[in-house]
Amino acid sequence: MQAIEPATLNQRFGIAEVAEVVEGQGGLPKIVIKSAAAEGEIYLLGAHLTSWKPADSHEVLFMSRNSLFQDGKAIRGGVPVCFPWFGPNPSNPKAPAHGFARIRAWELDSLEKHGDDVVVTMQLASDEATKQWWSADFRLTYRVTFGRELTLEFVLTNIGSEPVTYEAALHTYYRIGDISKTSIEGLDRVHYIDKTDNREEKIQRGPITIAKETDSVYLDTTADIAIIDPVLRRKITVHKENSHCTVVWNPWIDKAKAMADLGETAWPNMICVEACNVGPFVVELSPEQQHSMKAITTVSAL
Ligand code: BG6
Repeated sequence: MQAIEPATLNQRFGIAEVAEVVEGQGGLPKIVIKSAAAEGEIYLLGAHLTSWKPADSHEVLFMSRNSLFQDGKAIRGGVPVCFPWFGPNPSNPKAPAHGFARIRAWELDSLEKHGDDVVVTMQLASDEATKQWWSADFRLTYRVTFGRELTLEFVLTNIGSEPVTYEAALHTYYRIGDISKTSIEGLDRVHYIDKTDNREEKIQRGPITIAKETDSVYLDTTADIAIIDPVLRRKITVHKENSHCTVVWNPWIDKAKAMADLGETAWPNMICVEACNVGPFVVELSPEQQHSMKAITTVSAL
């Protein structure tokens, strides 16, 4: 784990006035991006993206005001990285929900300016702590490109001598005007597992609208997804690469109330749309093989 002071990291990696490492909430190191194409923020804890604002636009991500910013705890909102399992661990109830990647400090690899875009690259590799939960030898590289588009690239390399099987999700919380007026397009006729209804498999008909707790894993779909938000008058489009499932989640009233780091009032302003490979679509890699999953988000006016 890299317990290096933000100022030291900034000296080594920072690009003055464009990408700087500073002390964020809870004293945790975060990178602040300011370029002609976008502004944004990402923490080393969990490689957790907490803000993306493309030029001439408003914040696209939802962040909970009640979020913890504490080593070893997940940040609520933004983009948690779920890896190497999704949801509870199937065989160990003590293992952290959604895996360990979102609660570990990642190593900063580089900050680069590509034209008006800024690319942040972070790494996480297997060590004693990861092996406590999962035996694989792996190297993860997470490349986030802040620009008019937001590109999240999640690359796993199997550096061990055994095959590796894992789940991964880019658990993105989008900020929306009002959940009851929002619709999600792109998943018509796709089969999904309804986690709010005993994991029953169902078929989506038409756009998704949300009027109750929703926790759905859409299977075998690589399609683009569009979040239509008539209140904020914008359309958020998510293009996926090498992601064969999409999760749609909103906790609704009761579940939100029970989540101290979310609170009672914020849930109508968030929707999670997650590019992922989970359940029957786990990724299997032979030694030395690599897999890259991408989610590219764009925003346009409605
Ligand atoms: C979603 C899952 O992706 O994440 C839900 O499908 C889960 O089942 C939600 O409740 C939030 O998980 P957590 O661990 O961040 O509270």
